[in-house]
Amino acid sequence: MLPNQGSNHSGKKLLLESYGCQMNFSDSEIVASILAKEGYTTTRVPEEADLILLNTCAIRDNAEQRIRSRLEFLRSVKKKRPSMSVGVLGCMAERLREKLLDQEKLVDLVVGPDAYRDLPNLIQQVETGQKAVNVLLSREETYAEITPVRLNTNGVNHFISIMRGCDNMCSFCVVPFTRGRERSRDPESIVAEATDLFNQGFREVTLLGQNVDSYKWKVNETTEDKVSFANLLERVALIHPDLRIRYSTSHPKDMSDEVLEVMASHENICKYIHLPVQSGHDDVLKRMNRGYSREWYLQRIEAIRRYMPDCAISTDVIAGFCGETEEEHQSTVSIMREVGFDMAYMFKYSERPRTLAERKFEDDIPEETKTQRLQEIIDIQMKNAARRTAAHVGKTQKVLIEGFSKRSSEFYQGRNSQNVVAIFPVSTEFGPGDYVEVKMTGATSVTLTGEAVSVVSKRS
Ligand code: 5AD
Ligand code: SF4
Repeated sequence: MLPNQGSNHSGKKLLLESYGCQMNFSDSEIVASILAKEGYTTTRVPEEADLILLNTCAIRDNAEQRIRSRLEFLRSVKKKRPSMSVGVLGCMAERLREKLLDQEKLVDLVVGPDAYRDLPNLIQQVETGQKAVNVLLSREETYAEITPVRLNTNGVNHFISIMRGCDNMCSFCVVPFTRGRERSRDPESIVAEATDLFNQGFREVTLLGQNVDSYKWKVNETTEDKVSFANLLERVALIHPDLRIRYSTSHPKDMSDEVLEVMASHENICKYIHLPVQSGHDDVLKRMNRGYSREWYLQRIEAIRRYMPDCAISTDVIAGFCGETEEEHQSTVSIMREVGFDMAYMFKYSERPRTLAERKFEDDIPEETKTQRLQEIIDIQMKNAARRTAAHVGKTQKVLIEGFSKRSSEFYQGRNSQNVVAIFPVSTEFGPGDYVEVKMTGATSVTLTGEAVSVVSKRS
């Protein structure tokens, strides 16, 4: 429930659904905070809501299709309750603008990722019977001083946005168009938010940005002093040894040794790096405008392993990008084998309007070939993941308890530093938010099972 601070919307109910990346989930908490000030309380039942907002994702076509069918369903709910308003937030909002309002008449309200402060005005406009839209992108907006309302939280781990937008222009990616130019958030507000979360009992924060390595904050106009991502990471790590830090996403072209050094020297910075490779072939990487070669990527992997031999590495891969030959695909297969990723998010290429790839190249790989190539990549990754998970068996590792396991309240679940979920029997000696040493005794393909052997530190 949101705190009802009373205003012209006291008693009104808001249903807020988030799709896509963690950044969207984090943005929804900003939206909830802005609307709590207007008097809205939250609900999970569409039939009970006065306002339904979908925070949407446009990264691949299937993400958009899913939201479209949800909007069709909500249209049928709205037929029975005409007073209810429906709005689209996030990346699809920016992409589709008036189309959703006018041509398709699916929604009343369209608000882009940089316009959430305008929501109260826009809602008022909708209440007078008009449609409302604001998809302006900003060069400055970071919502730095808005305290997010924590939605759907387990009270242990949480996300903090440290920057917005992206300047990279990877040719397949719609994000620079939907989320605009890259801007970093004031480090003071980030440290304050992390400290506040720790004081509320949270024990893990994940710092979020499309490309965290290019985080940069100019201290003031009179000095050249800048806060880099490595500096920020260190500042957050120093808040308290019992606050774990994760972050996402790194970019291979920008990931610095300085960041690796900071990670290696702080136990509470988790030994896990998400480093999207996208393809293993230089020509494809060039067409993707990624700014690095296969060789460079492999050298970055080597650097990670040099600084932190126990670091887990995950990646993103795209199968069937424009013009991808069988040989180029095989290079991706071989890099997956060579690196042996702990985890991977694997996708078929999906052409996005306005992107460089859409303008310059033909989406010419048949769907069937994309599916085959993706399957080949998935098969390798399943073996890699099982091998990497099994390598933890026999070790005793520090685990942060997140809550009961999904299957049974007789077991707790938590994660080790490498982000692998561990399941172990419940005990009265410890609970969520505590750190325990778990002896890993078994593994399924992606999960460890074990037994807690000692308590490292308790939350209370
Ligand atoms: N098609 C398929 N996958 C994509 N991604 C981004 N854009 C596309 C697209 N057009 C993937 C990339 C990125 C991840 C977040 O989504 O692998 O790293
Ligand atoms: Fe998209 Fe590339 Fe920016 Fe990631 S770094 S959001 S893939 S443009």
